[in-house]
Amino acid sequence: MRQTIIAGNWKMNSSKEVVNTLVMGILSGMADVKSKVIVCAPFPYLSQAEALATHSQLQIGAQDLNVNASGAFTGEVSAEMIKDFGVTHVIVGHSERRSLYGETDEIVAEKVQVALDNDLTPLFCIGEQLEERESGKTEAVVSRQVNAVINRVGIEAFKNIIVAYEPVWAIGTGVTATPQQAQDTHAFIRRLLADHDSDIAQSTPILYGGSMSPVNAEELMGCEDIDGGLIGGASLKAEDFLHICKAG
Ligand code: 13P
Repeated sequence: MRQTIIAGNWKMNSSKEVVNTLVMGILSGMADVKSKVIVCAPFPYLSQAEALATHSQLQIGAQDLNVNASGAFTGEVSAEMIKDFGVTHVIVGHSERRSLYGETDEIVAEKVQVALDNDLTPLFCIGEQLEERESGKTEAVVSRQVNAVINRVGIEAFKNIIVAYEPVWAIGTGVTATPQQAQDTHAFIRRLLADHDSDIAQSTPILYGGSMSPVNAEELMGCEDIDGGLIGGASLKAEDFLHICKAG
């Protein structure tokens, strides 16, 4: 039985005041939440979020890392630095990093490796663009993305990886994949993993991301192979985020 996981991706949003209100708001409603809950804050707010969440069941994640441990990489943040703040998870290969910052499958695979080497759980993101879906390439795209990581870290490493399927056309658009579309792709991803190891395929959490909201969360997470959500916009309001956490 896979535990439901709800992760908030705040992206480049927040302020000291908002972090305070948001984390305190989430914590105030966590008592009856059974899912594992993570919020992924921008780097400057990791310390604040972590301090507010101390001794709670809320875990803190980062949104990216640099593959180098230290050195002359102006503006970058290493896995060691993230760890220093008590962070447990890190988003890797988000579609915004792939499309806006040129992250290739190989770079993403290396980041997954570095996260694992530093005992950080990667939230490893995959997903197809609209034109790829429309031209019937969804399965080819997610296969390529998943296989790049399997080739780099091996299937055993998926014991410590959370996969997030985020169809790019559903991110921030208000257009959600239908439960059937999402379930079909999640089942396909699980079969890809099962080609290597069926037990690991069964135990790997596969989250859905892309306009998940209080309105559609329950139906999406009711699907057999959808083990939770990676939430963007709706994670910025404590009430909406908690609603999704409780739907899981
Ligand atoms: P939205 O929930 O805003 O569509 O964003 C999803 C996402 O990109 C989470 O990583």
